[in-house]
Amino acid sequence: MASEAPLGKRLNIENINPHVRTAKYAVRGELAVKSEEYRATLAKGDPHDLPFNQIISANIGNPQQLDQQPITFFRQVLSILENPVLLEKEDVLINHLGYKPDVLERAKWLLKKVGSVGAYSASNGVPAIRQSIAEFLERRDGFPANPADIYMSAGASSGVNTLLHIICANDKTGILVPIPQYPLYTASLSVLNATCVEYHLDESKNWGTDLAVIKQAHEKAKADGVDVRAIVIINPGNPTGASLPEEDIRAVIDYARQERLVILADEVYQTNVFVGEFISFKRMLRQLQKENPGAYDQVELASLHSISKGMVGECGHRGGYFELVGFDPAVQAEIYKFVSIMLCAPVIGQCLVDLMVNPPKLGEPSYELYQKEYDAIFNGLKERATALHKAFEQMEGVECGSPQGSMYLFPTITLSKKAADAAAAEGRTPDEFYCMQLLEATGVCVVPGSGFGQKDGSLHFRTTFLAPGTEWVGSIVKFHKEFMDKYRD
Ligand SMILES: Cc1ncc(COP(=O)(O)O)c(C=O)c1O
Repeated sequence: MASEAPLGKRLNIENINPHVRTAKYAVRGELAVKSEEYRATLAKGDPHDLPFNQIISANIGNPQQLDQQPITFFRQVLSILENPVLLEKEDVLINHLGYKPDVLERAKWLLKKVGSVGAYSASNGVPAIRQSIAEFLERRDGFPANPADIYMSAGASSGVNTLLHIICANDKTGILVPIPQYPLYTASLSVLNATCVEYHLDESKNWGTDLAVIKQAHEKAKADGVDVRAIVIINPGNPTGASLPEEDIRAVIDYARQERLVILADEVYQTNVFVGEFISFKRMLRQLQKENPGAYDQVELASLHSISKGMVGECGHRGGYFELVGFDPAVQAEIYKFVSIMLCAPVIGQCLVDLMVNPPKLGEPSYELYQKEYDAIFNGLKERATALHKAFEQMEGVECGSPQGSMYLFPTITLSKKAADAAAAEGRTPDEFYCMQLLEATGVCVVPGSGFGQKDGSLHFRTTFLAPGTEWVGSIVKFHKEFMDKYRD
């Protein structure tokens, strides 16, 4: 006779990997979960007592969830890749569905290079697509790129995960991470049980990178016995939107050279730039190498890009890549092995990377529509960012630099002691409390500044400016006024 089943589950919250438990990822945290519950309530259509009729997910840079339309050329090519028999009806595609001949040509080319999109590709990505990326990098930077140094990934997130796994040897490994930052970095370092060495960006200088601050954080970590090996730079910034000027990039590369730090340049917002220009770390490194022969040869740089952001906005398709410069070949072989363990990045996502880096060119049949759609998305984002910024400017106790890029605004909020006490009574920080009250009153979901890191004593929230329309902006303004009145000291 079978003995009685032992009581309780084998896995419980106390015995699972503690490093997963300690990781924090507020952009999909409590507020986001609550907003999804509200969304489900609204979707049921039953009578409800919520004071709003829609949820605005301004917590995450997810463009197509907020009505950004996919670029037609991209999706037409993908439709053929998923269903190649469409090519047997070319006249229907062209004469009835409006596909242009270059759509068919690109789909045929990709099918030839990829085979079936249902098959695994090479571990580091389809060779022909890595070649397309290398050509794009050469056009962008004016310096050649080697397809063998390019690794395709399931979005930039998986590239960051690969690189951090390779760099972090034990709990003494330290990585310099900007604060505020996109919490992928702090969360991944928690999971890896490595040390996050925070350096603060300078809000008074439009969230620029201050080398003195980096040095100070680095020196302190070294004195504490941390083996600091790499520095993360998010450019353009998330949540700040700032694009680094050339002198800051040069200064960081120079510091990395002196201190033997690997540079992780997260450049996923490289086309989301309204103010200034995007300058890649790769271009600047090659420039410095040219100007100072031999001096920068040992610098190790990994730069990341993605199909998730920009005007592409195809984050659900999970595509991206990273390029390595100056890495030891034996380390690179281990990176290859690491990505092999995951087999390969989604092949449709890889094809989208090809389309992103090699869109229709002037004179080609799909160019006009492509450019029109691209410009409309770019201008729409800029207009919405400006409108939101204008609204913030009118709000008491809110300060926000003018929009510079990426998909976010990150205003400072000054809240009263009464509000801070009410927050503490709920076991929340004042910014969490504010954001929760905003969600409960308006259905607008934003992320408290504490989710990205902020200087002690300062409070912020991050909102995307992706949602169309102005109604939701009006509802934030109205909420804010009521909140300030209710909690006036
Ligand atoms: C700075 C930054 N890096 C990386 C990512 C991850 O993007 P994905 O994995 O979708 O490419 C994001 C997403 O918001 C981001 O903001």
